[in-house]
Amino acid sequence: MSTLTSFPIGDLPAMWLRDNCPCARCRDPRSGQKLFQISALPAGLRVGTADDTTVAGEPAVEVVWEPDGHRSAYPLAWLDAARPGRTGHGDRRTEAGKELWTARDVAGRLPEAGWEEYLAEPGVRARMLESVLGLGFMVLRDVPEREGQVLAVAETFGFVRETNYGKLFDVRVEPDPNNLAFTSAAITPHTDNPYRDPVPTLQLLHCLVNDADGGDSGLVDGFAAAALLRRENREAFEVLTRTPVPFVFRDAGTELRADRPLIDTDPLGRVREIRFNNRSIGTLRLPADELEAFYAAYRAFAELLLRPELQLNLRLVPGDCLIFDNTRLLHARTAFAQDGARHLQGCYADLDGLASALSVLRRADTLEPLAALFAGAVSAEYLGEPVTMAEHMLQAGARAEAAGAPPHLVAAALLHDVGHVEGDVVTGRELMAGDDNRHSHTGADLLGRWFGPEVTEPVRLHVAAKRYLCTVEPGTTTGCRRRRSTPWRCKGVR
Ligand code: OGA
Ligand code: ZN
Ligand code: ZN
Repeated sequence: MSTLTSFPIGDLPAMWLRDNCPCARCRDPRSGQKLFQISALPAGLRVGTADDTTVAGEPAVEVVWEPDGHRSAYPLAWLDAARPGRTGHGDRRTEAGKELWTARDVAGRLPEAGWEEYLAEPGVRARMLESVLGLGFMVLRDVPEREGQVLAVAETFGFVRETNYGKLFDVRVEPDPNNLAFTSAAITPHTDNPYRDPVPTLQLLHCLVNDADGGDSGLVDGFAAAALLRRENREAFEVLTRTPVPFVFRDAGTELRADRPLIDTDPLGRVREIRFNNRSIGTLRLPADELEAFYAAYRAFAELLLRPELQLNLRLVPGDCLIFDNTRLLHARTAFAQDGARHLQGCYADLDGLASALSVLRRADTLEPLAALFAGAVSAEYLGEPVTMAEHMLQAGARAEAAGAPPHLVAAALLHDVGHVEGDVVTGRELMAGDDNRHSHTGADLLGRWFGPEVTEPVRLHVAAKRYLCTVEPGTTTGCRRRRSTPWRCKGVR
């Protein structure tokens, strides 16, 4: 190989590099889809020459391949980001892509939003969808208490999954129930429809009436529970990952069966799906010693799932819609009085559609309004300070970068005050007098459109953090000190 580029192109697996050739003969320029079969690439593929070049004005490396003479130009930025071993495996469905929780981690900070703001504000919508991926659920409030409205909720992020229960199902006491759900009995933590393959990955429950004594809801993070089981009883965890369990459902018109483990792991051993439903486990047919081991493990997991500290308790009131990851969270309800009125409407949908809706919301071309902020409102005066708001944020970002902060904190620092330009702008005098336009919350919600909690939450907390610093470290200053006559103290953060 002759190479005139400093990028270590020879270190990359040749077949991988060629498979990712971006040229128009290899990929359809409109769809980005591949136009060749892996088997059509020549045997003995290797880089012939590699030279610096540019693609659309950006630095790139051009490879001429042997033996077929094909030319590929790889942007340096792409090579850098995609370099093997550079990033972890990106499957967000596994425990590695989640924020695992117990009840007290989420009790005071439910991922919730009002229906109207969820519809109107892309940032709020993104934050809520992100919660479903990260925490496993969201609660929408004040969803119109109309029959069928739950389908409209599902349509805000994807497609309804129709089942034998219909597009929509009613959870209320029925005279001739085909499922315990349609009685007033308590239902212990479970996932729905484990007898279906594929299982519905999202469930929505919209409360229309809840006047009953009892009938409260509970949520348990099944991934956190599985991780706990793995720590406390590794043997039980492993038995549950490798024992296929028959889940069955039958009524007059339906007969469903799926054989899946209670804890499903991905090829790297990470928890990816929980199925747990005591009502629908059929008869296992295994050698006696395996049955013994399974039942010991099943009981250990079941006991763990009932630990009060794992269960988040909440009561749905009319207008609430609970949306959760049915492959991760277990849901439960307490028993309620037979004569009490209680009516939920539910439907199923899928996580892939929700993740897609979130990605589209966050596409890079939608960053435009954020970039425009720096040229627009924030380039104006900053509450009477000698620096503009844009300069103040650029200084904070530069300081974070100089301090070696990870990229998400640099982004948070760079954008921490964007909330000042949204909603009610307050003057410096008002701010110093103690008025707070909640700019940290406004900013965090605005940024939720583009970023996950690793960026939005530091922004949300920056006012509280600054107040804390101002209290315990009098004289606390910020990045703009050198350009100011007085130390920057507690501005806008009282
Ligand atoms: C169900 C169910 C919960 C409730 O129908 O599967 O879990 O709150 N219902 O009634
Ligand atoms: Zn090509
Ligand atoms: Zn259920």
